[in-house]
Amino acid sequence: MPLTAYDLTGRTAIVTGAARGIGRATAALLAEAGATVYCADLDDRGIEATAAAITAAGGSAHPRPLDVTRRDQVAAVVDAALDATGRLDVMANIAGIMHSSAVLETEDADLDRVWNTNFKGVLYGCQEAARAMIATATRGSIVTMASGAIDTGAPGLLCYGAAKAAVVQLTKTLATEVGRHGIRVNAVAPGWIRTAMTDRHTAEAQQQAEKPMIRMSPLGRVGEPEDIAHAVLHLASDASSFTTGQILRPNGGVAMPW
Ligand code: NAI
Repeated sequence: MPLTAYDLTGRTAIVTGAARGIGRATAALLAEAGATVYCADLDDRGIEATAAAITAAGGSAHPRPLDVTRRDQVAAVVDAALDATGRLDVMANIAGIMHSSAVLETEDADLDRVWNTNFKGVLYGCQEAARAMIATATRGSIVTMASGAIDTGAPGLLCYGAAKAAVVQLTKTLATEVGRHGIRVNAVAPGWIRTAMTDRHTAEAQQQAEKPMIRMSPLGRVGEPEDIAHAVLHLASDASSFTTGQILRPNGGVAMPW
């Protein structure tokens, strides 16, 4: 570890959504930085695979089945981390779902499903983590996952964008309330990242979908999960010790092309 500010040795992290995509890359990077990582997700086999890959690379990881829409399950993962390590330094709330429907076609059930996962799931993570950090006097870092959808309208993204905008409000509000405990709370708002969430299944459809991003981005490319993992590591570590209530936008220079 050449830069000690990024060193997470001796620290405990929980990563939700760790079965694949951005969550998986983040769990791997936090572990590489030295943290003991609790890999939490609905997808049991995915978290087993993430934890196994981390362990094989010499890191420390524990798979934990979790549905973020269930507060009792979120609390149980936090308790497990506390029981085993006595601390919680990093809570990375990455689990999320995509939903697309035009405003005029959006049904209550769509709104509820997206809200429950993408907002309430993050709220539970923030609440349970902050309580644990306060109780153990750990000056921890909470990271939430927003999206470029917070910055602009885009067809079909009402439910998703509204929940992500609410996550930003949660992030900024919580930062003002827990800062006196030394706890920092920040959001990451990625642009288009190549994961299962943005997979269009055929190479042709993928190219079509990525075209506007590549055209509009000054960097001329879409993002990879590792691009976002590094943003999370920055916010999780002492490298960002004077940063709280902020939104970091790793998006190749463009929020939401459409
Ligand atoms: P992904 O679909 O590859 O992974 C999401 C993970 O969350 C999956 O492993 C899934 O099982 C898990 N998950 C879903 N609902 C859950 C629940 N109720 N409880 C526990 N785990 C649950 O998606 P990706 O791309 O890795 O996204 C991660 C986060 O980044 C999400 O919050 C997403 O909204 C956000 N994001 C992604 C972007 C992208 O372009 N891929 C852009 C901006 C934000």
